[in-house]
Amino acid sequence: MTRPCTVVISGKGGTGKTTIASLLIDALIAAGERPILAVDADPNANLHEALGVALAETLGSMREEAFTKNIPPGMDRTGYIKYRFRRALAEAEGYDLLAMGRPEGSGCYCFPNALLTECIETLERDYRFVIVDSEAGMEHIARGTIKDPEVLLIVSDPGARGMRTVGRIRDLAESLGLSRDRIFLVVNRDRGDAAEKSDLPLIARIPEDPAIGEADLAATPIVGIPQESPARAAVRDLSARIVKECARRG
Ligand SMILES: Nc1ncnc2c1ncn2[C@@H]1O[C@H](COP(=O)(O)OP(=O)(O)O)[C@@H](O)[C@H]1O
Ligand SMILES: [Mg+2]
Repeated sequence: MTRPCTVVISGKGGTGKTTIASLLIDALIAAGERPILAVDADPNANLHEALGVALAETLGSMREEAFTKNIPPGMDRTGYIKYRFRRALAEAEGYDLLAMGRPEGSGCYCFPNALLTECIETLERDYRFVIVDSEAGMEHIARGTIKDPEVLLIVSDPGARGMRTVGRIRDLAESLGLSRDRIFLVVNRDRGDAAEKSDLPLIARIPEDPAIGEADLAATPIVGIPQESPARAAVRDLSARIVKECARRG
């Protein structure tokens, strides 16, 4: 079986990571690039809302219980953890969704993570793509929960301040060993004015799209916006670029 292509979507809070992640997952599925494992790595999990799926539990909540609770008769600890892990996996049409949730106590993912990483690796084998809606930091990459993505997207608004953050995330990613040719800039909420310069390749410009604001206000899934919505069309192009990028690395 071939390894899935992992795409991590990073960027400052509020830049549009979750919005783009949900539309990207949807576009890949529509293009037949399925199944997909969607990973919500933000402690404030909300990718499921953007996708319109229910979430039973996060790895954070599951982790605590699976390690402290009494194990049902006839199961060992590892079996129980794997069982709870499968329950944490929300299954939808074309993709599964896993939310990381919060690290317990001191902010440490530590020991249980070894087992969880193993669970994820076991899962991963079936997926064409793993799409990670990253937290604002790079915690999961730094800690090795998410290893060596094929593509790292850094999302920014077109402004100068956003671009400085892009530079910081890129430096951090490189210091964690990610090679520069896997890192791409996505300018979001583009209003047609020239974006600030960045030395990263610009893989997509996503326009400001009123349909996204409307979905937000109505608390309806982002993936429910019209097919011809400009942001959606731009993410469709982005998905095609990503498919090519992954094929080139495959
Ligand atoms: N292209 C866009 N057009 C209009 N609104 C957008 C666009 N992208 C994001 N938004 C809005 O910006 C806010 C932050 O987006 P979100 O995807 O939640 O960011 P993040 O996940 O990076 O914190 C949301 O209210 C969202 O609706
Ligand atoms: Mg988000």
